[in-house]
Amino acid sequence: MEYSTRTDTLERLSTDCLIVGVFQKRKLAPTAEALDALFDGLLARLLKRDDVEGKAGDTLLVNHVPGGRIDRVLLVGLGKREELNVAAYRKSLAAAFKVLKESGAKHAVSALHEVEVGQRGADWKIRQAIELLESGLYRFREMKGESAEDHPPRLSRLQFLLASDQDAAPVETGIREGQAIAHGMTLARNLGNLPGNVCTPAYLAEQALKLGKEYKKLKVSVLEESDMEELGMGALLSVARGSRQPAKLIVLEYRGAGGKARPYVLIGKGLTFDAGGISLKPAANMDEMKYDMCGGAGVIGAIQAVAEMGLPLNVVGLVPASENLPDGNANKPGDIVRSMAGITVEILNTDAEGRLILCDALTYAKRFDPVAVIDVATLTGACIVALGRHPSGLMGNDDALCEQLTRAGETTWDRVWRMPIWDDYQEQLKSNFADVANIGGPDGGSITAACFLSRFAKDFKWAHLDIAGTAWKTGADKGATGRPVPLLVQYLIDRAA
Ligand code: BES
Ligand code: MN
Ligand code: ZN
Repeated sequence: MEYSTRTDTLERLSTDCLIVGVFQKRKLAPTAEALDALFDGLLARLLKRDDVEGKAGDTLLVNHVPGGRIDRVLLVGLGKREELNVAAYRKSLAAAFKVLKESGAKHAVSALHEVEVGQRGADWKIRQAIELLESGLYRFREMKGESAEDHPPRLSRLQFLLASDQDAAPVETGIREGQAIAHGMTLARNLGNLPGNVCTPAYLAEQALKLGKEYKKLKVSVLEESDMEELGMGALLSVARGSRQPAKLIVLEYRGAGGKARPYVLIGKGLTFDAGGISLKPAANMDEMKYDMCGGAGVIGAIQAVAEMGLPLNVVGLVPASENLPDGNANKPGDIVRSMAGITVEILNTDAEGRLILCDALTYAKRFDPVAVIDVATLTGACIVALGRHPSGLMGNDDALCEQLTRAGETTWDRVWRMPIWDDYQEQLKSNFADVANIGGPDGGSITAACFLSRFAKDFKWAHLDIAGTAWKTGADKGATGRPVPLLVQYLIDRAA
């Protein structure tokens, strides 16, 4: 898709489809109103005839309008003017784009960003539009027999209508950022949707290396198992022992700021298939464990977005990548391994492997002298039980960092909800035989997982995002969502500002 601004009077505008808003009840937004005047009240009459009130998500496609320049008008319900919040705006956009996609229009012009959504600027409104349109157009076809070219989406250009005296700068910022974030989300979704037999640790590493070739400010390197051995990453390596695929630790270093500026470090769990290991998972829905690398994919997607935008920050991405399978050489319940930090871990359940690969990446993060470290992981089923699938779970050792992430989540609607990691919970991780156990029993499973990680994050500001419920959808529209790319990128945009 191509995005640009468009300055034209309605009298002169020609397009396949003009998208305009209507509030409840049948109150036309400014551009719709001007258009309606131009057409002698046609739009108001049609809304009335078809009983379309303008509720958020209502749509009315007018296929034939006078004048000959505008082929279609898409009227989009926005709900009550005073109730137009982020959720309603997003619902309206999604509904509009669904109709637009199927309308046959190749080019469209939208005026929807003219309406007020709280205090949000034009850049934000444009970004939301691009993210939602790209999400709606996304199809994972890489593994299907027919190629994507067999079904080219007709829609290829969306323009944002500007009044002649309107400042184009925020709209252009929105276009730039929106596209970068959408591209990052698409990359994360593609990686997530690829099956475990294709998207192996080595494949993830190759994709990251390819990214490093595309951007001058991005340097990508990969630590092999021999490197990890030298570093003493016994926890990470123990998980990989049960797999024939060698583990990788992918290191992406983006230098958008001066050489010595301390970086933000993002760590993403890159477990390319999680069968549970010897503590084998049940068969039902086990295919979904190919998504257990969505934290890593999110980090790679966020770094791509940051590089595409050229953000003036230093950002490091770390993606420990491995499979978790049962094997004669795999971790066994009761095994004790020594992490890079020197902390010994009793593996009471081999299915709690995410924290084992993350803890060594956390220790490795220290060498970058980070401003803050954020790890992202499909870490616990318990997080879905606790919070459902709307917010990601947030835990961390620094209130300011957690608040910044919460705010970034509200801005992007890639929301988070914080859970406590009080010392009281640490007791659940006591082991009779090692420094710490890798599970803390059935109570507060997401919290005890984060408590485990916190022991390796003592030397910096750290936050943990449990994305088990948000990184993919199950059921009929099973697939990766691209979250938390918007959240991570917004957090970094805010730091650069
Ligand atoms: N990758 C899973 C977490 C998960 C489960 C994500 C379901 C999404 C949906 C993780 O490695 C895991 O298996 N966690 C265990 C931890 C338990 C053994 C303490 C879990 O959640 O059951
Ligand atoms: Mn597991
Ligand atoms: Zn896992």
